[in-house]
Amino acid sequence: MLTSTISTFMASHHKECDEQFARAEQLISENNWDLGVEQWNQFAAELEKHFSREEDILFPEFESKTGMTGGPTQMMRMEHEQMRALVNEANKAANSKDKDQFLALTETLMVTMQQHNMKEEQILYPMTDQSLPNAVEIVERMNQN
Ligand SMILES: [Fe+2]
Ligand SMILES: [Fe+2]
Repeated sequence: MLTSTISTFMASHHKECDEQFARAEQLISENNWDLGVEQWNQFAAELEKHFSREEDILFPEFESKTGMTGGPTQMMRMEHEQMRALVNEANKAANSKDKDQFLALTETLMVTMQQHNMKEEQILYPMTDQSLPNAVEIVERMNQN
């Protein structure tokens, strides 16, 4: 039986988001606004897809299986809201081509995202792999989302 199905799938999606984020930040730091904003929008959409895989599929499965509704998943949902707020602010900075403001916001977002992803990869995802016998089916559903 695979014991890292969810961890592997979700950690690789973190990496994909990180790479898109880094490309957008690089382009905008070089004043390549057209491509940079396009790449930034792609990153924001991918990040939102990731959050919805967690909030709509993975977390509810974990919560209903373990009865843990006020614990780690609740904290992760709150951190998603913090990151969504930072993405929103960075969208505004990108639209007004305010590079300093954009890079300050993305710096904060990157630190928040790294800490968040580390908690998920080291603690929460392994817990989901341990407690969810239908991990393969859950990954299939998340992959279609
Ligand atoms: Fe998350
Ligand atoms: Fe995640």
